[in-house]
Amino acid sequence: HRTRVAIIGAGPAGLLLGALLADRGVPFAVVEHRSREHVLGRVRAGVLEQSSVEVLERLGLADGVHANGLVHGGVHLQHEGERFHIDFEELVGRTVTVYGQQRVQADLMAAHDALGSTVFYDAADVAPADEGGEAVVRFGLGGEPQELHADFVVGADGFHGVTRSLLAPTVAERGYDAAWLGILADVAPSTDELIYALHPDGFAMHSMRSPSVSRLYVQVAPDERIEEWSDDRIWDALDTRLGAPGWTLEHGAITEKSITQMRSSVVSSLGRGRAFLAGDAGHIVPPTGAKGLNSAIADVTLLGDALAAQAAGDEAPLRSYSDRALDRQWKVQQFSEYMTDLLHVPGPAVPADEREFRYRSRLGRLRYVSGSRPAQQSIAEQYTGLAIR
Ligand code: FAD
Ligand code: DHB
Repeated sequence: HRTRVAIIGAGPAGLLLGALLADRGVPFAVVEHRSREHVLGRVRAGVLEQSSVEVLERLGLADGVHANGLVHGGVHLQHEGERFHIDFEELVGRTVTVYGQQRVQADLMAAHDALGSTVFYDAADVAPADEGGEAVVRFGLGGEPQELHADFVVGADGFHGVTRSLLAPTVAERGYDAAWLGILADVAPSTDELIYALHPDGFAMHSMRSPSVSRLYVQVAPDERIEEWSDDRIWDALDTRLGAPGWTLEHGAITEKSITQMRSSVVSSLGRGRAFLAGDAGHIVPPTGAKGLNSAIADVTLLGDALAAQAAGDEAPLRSYSDRALDRQWKVQQFSEYMTDLLHVPGPAVPADEREFRYRSRLGRLRYVSGSRPAQQSIAEQYTGLAIR
């Protein structure tokens, strides 16, 4: 096989990049090591920045978002039962849209079906190489060895992908002494907009997927075993941590539960020779603030435009892609770290007096935000999404 851009990974980054390239008339093919069903079945992010929705609109891929997305004009923050609203629309004139990553994934797959795109699912032992004169991706398909030859290879293969090794980047990262236990429940959301809560027992959040499906999270220890969390224990923790006067959390059947580790990590470069990285392949954030999927969309928007410019004879945008994407990403990293630190209690490894200090300091920060318009405006600006350029 021969194409112009070989994309590794058919997650949101890979398939959106394909859609962007198709829109600009640049040939591409996608190689994914999982099955189509597996990729579609992963329950992950839920919030699209306005900037992300605008990218989908530009490509004519926003019908699903407009039909089924829930436009939110703000979020609720809460500390120890005291809830306050950050009104994005009033503060910065922008919104976010609650629309599950699974639906984004399904919409992108449908778009590629309609385009007749080449997407190799179930590819075995995917091995990309930059051979100087060209990029080559070797893989197996139904036991037969395959070679995809291209001018460029893009790693959109997530945090554990294989393309990163071609760039041999250094990595800057930090961990957190917390993880998120997330559930999907068949119950109408008990809130109009998302609630992020700090409680002495730990963080909790109320999100949603539709008018009849709620998505909820509680902070747990990083080494927590999911077996220790019965459905009753999860609802108890959510009731306690999200509780506020005159408000009740409706319970329902839990249909999915899993634990997600938290990490901040950024590679030193997203481009080298014929190889580029986009999305989780280059960086991950802790989930607080909902930036993972949105960062992937921002990266591929820049990279898609840069690859199209290159095809038209202008190399400059492609050569500056890594710097531009990382400049935006470090601003996003800082915000995700801020939101995570703001809303989580320190873990058991922290000495008691320091734990008390850090918790009180976080309360102070939340109380400051609740009374400060500039602080709320800053959160609103970042939560709804920085410009992509
Ligand atoms: P991915 O979605 O990881 O896609 C990468 C694709 O590459 C996958 O399809 C994978 O199968 C494929 N691949 C990997 N290795 C290879 C290989 N060797 N060869 C070929 N293909 C390969 N973000 C939020 O904002 N909020 C959340 O609540 C949230 N929850 C999350 C929960 C989990 C469990 C995880 C893992 C992530 C979560 N995220 C969340 C982050 C968000 O889902 C990601 O940022 C987003 O999926 C990034 O998209 P991507 O396309 O870059 O990577
Ligand atoms: C969701 C996840 C997040 O990380 C977040 O900050 C908000 C919402 C969600 O899954 O709905």
